[in-house]
Amino acid sequence: MSNRVRTAVFPVAGLGTRFLPATKSIPKEMLPLVDRPLIQYAIDEARAAGIREFIFVTAKGKSALEDYFDSSAELERALEEKGKADLLAEVHNSTMPSGAIAYIRQQEALGLGHAVWCARRLIGDDSFAVILPDDVISAKTPCLKQMVEAHAETGGCMVAAMDVPREQTKSYGILDIAGEQGRLVRAAGMVEKPAPEDAPSTMAVIGRYILSASVLETLGAGKRGAGGEIQLTDAIAAEIDHGRPVHGFRFDGQRFDCGSKSGYLQATVAFGLARDDLRDEFSAYLAGIAGSQRAAE
Ligand code: G1P
Repeated sequence: MSNRVRTAVFPVAGLGTRFLPATKSIPKEMLPLVDRPLIQYAIDEARAAGIREFIFVTAKGKSALEDYFDSSAELERALEEKGKADLLAEVHNSTMPSGAIAYIRQQEALGLGHAVWCARRLIGDDSFAVILPDDVISAKTPCLKQMVEAHAETGGCMVAAMDVPREQTKSYGILDIAGEQGRLVRAAGMVEKPAPEDAPSTMAVIGRYILSASVLETLGAGKRGAGGEIQLTDAIAAEIDHGRPVHGFRFDGQRFDCGSKSGYLQATVAFGLARDDLRDEFSAYLAGIAGSQRAAE
C-alpha cells in the first residue's frame, strides 16, 4: 500500500439533465468553457498533481468523451500544413497516450459512491483521487496538487472543502468539524445533503477527493443513503468511525459549480476574462451591459 496518489477516477456517467436539451447528444462534460471542454480542465488538474492513470466511469451515450481524448491524425496533419502551431499544441494536449485512460461503465445510476466502486478493480490498494468535472476550480496552484501535498503529511482521506451559506447545505456533503489547523479541517463526521437546520456545520465537500482503498470495501456493501443512492460521503464517514483520519482541505482558489446554469455562466465569464486574447473586447462588452443596466434602473 502506498500513500502516493497516481490514479484518478472521473465519474462521468451522469445524465446532465440540467443542461437539456444540449445534453441529448453531448455529454455535459463536453460543454466548453471558452474553447475547452470541462473534462479537459479536470484532466489538466490531475496531470498537474502527478496523476498518471485515469479511470473514467462512464455510461451509455458518453462516447464523445472517448473520441475527444483519441488522437486525430487527419486534423493534426491539416493544422501542420496550415502552420497553425498554437492550435496543434492544443490538440496535442487533448490527446491522451494509448492506455492512459481506462473506461468502465456504470450500468445503473445508483449514486456517486456506486460510480467510484465500479472502478475498484483498476484502483488496487493505493490511495487514489476522485475528480468531479462539474466542479471547476481556478487556482494558482491547481487544487488537487495542493491536496496531494497536504495529504503526504496527513495520510488517510481528504476532501476539498469550502464554506457555503447555511441555506445551501442540502446541496452538499457537510463536515462535522473536530478541529482546524491552517487549511486542514479534521472531520468528526460527514453527512450528505443535510437540511440547513440539521447541518453540523456549513463546511461543504467540493468535488476533489483523495481516498484510501478501504473506502471501496465500505462501498461494496451497497448501503443506500440520502436520496436512496450509494453515497461516497457515507463511505468516507465510515472511515472516521473506524478511527482513520479524514480531513477537509480549505483549498486556495475559486470554485465554479458548472453543474448549474448560473455557475457555468459565471465560469464562462471568469475564464473569458482570464484570456489574453479575449480580455479587452470581452470586458468592454460586459462594462457596456452593466452600464446600460444601471441607466435603465
Ligand atoms: C456530490 C457529492 C456531495 C458534494 C458535491 C460537490 O453531490 O455527493 O457530497 O458536496 O458533489 O459538488 P452532487 O453535486 O453530485 O449532487
